[in-house]
Amino acid sequence: MAAAKLGIEEGQKLHALYGDDGEYYPAVVVATSAAKNRSKKPVKVTYNGYPEEVWVSIDALKSKKLGLAPKAATSAPEPKAKAKGKAKAKSAPEPKAKAKAKAKVKAKKERPASAAGQFKVCVCGGAGGIGQPLSMLMALDERVGELSVFDLDIAVVPAAGVAADLGHLERPSKVKAYSLDLKQKPVEELSDCLTGCHLVLVPAGLPRKPGMTRADLLATNAGIAKGIVEACAKFCPDAVVALIVNPVNSVVPAMAELYKKAGKDPAKIVGVTTLDIVRANKFVHEASDVSLKKINVPVIGGHAGTTILPLFSQVPACKDIPADKLVEMDKRTQEAGTEVVNAKNGKGSATLSMAYAGARLGKAVLAGLSGKKGVKEFAYVQSTIREGVGYFASKVIFGKGGVEKVLDIGTLNEHETTRLNELTPALKEEIQAGLDYAAGESLAC
Ligand code: NAD
Ligand code: LMR
Repeated sequence: MAAAKLGIEEGQKLHALYGDDGEYYPAVVVATSAAKNRSKKPVKVTYNGYPEEVWVSIDALKSKKLGLAPKAATSAPEPKAKAKGKAKAKSAPEPKAKAKAKAKVKAKKERPASAAGQFKVCVCGGAGGIGQPLSMLMALDERVGELSVFDLDIAVVPAAGVAADLGHLERPSKVKAYSLDLKQKPVEELSDCLTGCHLVLVPAGLPRKPGMTRADLLATNAGIAKGIVEACAKFCPDAVVALIVNPVNSVVPAMAELYKKAGKDPAKIVGVTTLDIVRANKFVHEASDVSLKKINVPVIGGHAGTTILPLFSQVPACKDIPADKLVEMDKRTQEAGTEVVNAKNGKGSATLSMAYAGARLGKAVLAGLSGKKGVKEFAYVQSTIREGVGYFASKVIFGKGGVEKVLDIGTLNEHETTRLNELTPALKEEIQAGLDYAAGESLAC
């Protein structure tokens, strides 16, 4: 993604990775493309949790504004050198030096605890339609040091092939493959694959065919999810487990309940609804011509048909879109998955846009885990924001432990209020189907 597309602008303060100590430091962007006074190499930055490379002037990295000198390209400063620098600042208390020292302390405070390659991520179903592009997007993330690609030996492409392919990308991630046959149990076999994982993304499971509902997938996919979640509970209970597998509305409550029963934290189980936000954003952009940088549609409720509720009334870009057009866009957002299922004509459901959306969620989780403050993304999680609805999609803050806070849904207009009231019984029914599944199961961990 180009810096310009991300909305990075000159003069903007960002965290840039420079020097080779793998740490991000505050910097000021002076150029986002080839410019006279640019650095020889592009500098890596994080922006909204996304890694990117921009051309930044070395002078900017010296950053008069932030009082930062660039790190030596060869090594991180020794603690001794740091202490020396501090002593020097103390012995020369001119206003300029004081300000510099102050800025240095401030910069240190602002610096997120992230380092390149610090996270281990697993994609379960990693050789599938979503799994392959999602594995690629995660392998491209500089924060990912190890990527496990897990699939069954009946997958269309062997997991080993996907890992060999991704292993040649010029990124730090080491990509390893894990493959099981149908008789092998993840809980007995996936120790190496999952131990140490911070994030497990799960697009393993059957997709819909035309004429099917997502709920029709529950019988098969709940069993697949259970096998994987059981292994996570044993080998990486602290990891965020992001479930893409459908029906999200039922599989997430089922797996969270099983985690609870096993004495694990159900808040680690997160349902991925990001594709609904991605789609709604695109529809608003097309209807309004407003830049996508300025659009982030809240989509709440669940991830199936009428339970998908976009809150266009909260989006400034929608203010000039006629009410009937907004109702149409609401309907289209609900039916967008089916639009793709029908267009693929029996050969699967959304894979590429889902991989993009899954990576957006995955990157938000990693940004939170790395200590970045205020990372917000929508997700379907255990929730108390709607009375009597134990699982709900809304804006969530991701932090060092995963889901840190589930945020309220804000003010709804009349249409949205009616829709919310109508969707609630349907969502409750789907949640109950998940809880019923969990009632008869337990995790062997
Ligand atoms: P796919 O068939 O292309 O890939 C699924 C992969 O899972 C296959 O490679 C398969 O071998 C693997 N798999 C099956 N059982 C497994 C097991 N027990 N352990 C490990 N791997 C296993 O399907 P897809 O298009 O990638 O879709 C995957 C799932 O994601 C479906 O359930 C689909 O409905 C869902 N989906 C969800 C969203 C969403 O927004 N949450 C969007 C699109 C698709
Ligand atoms: C989607 O929204 O694209 C997915 O949930 C897949 C589906 O079955 O529609």
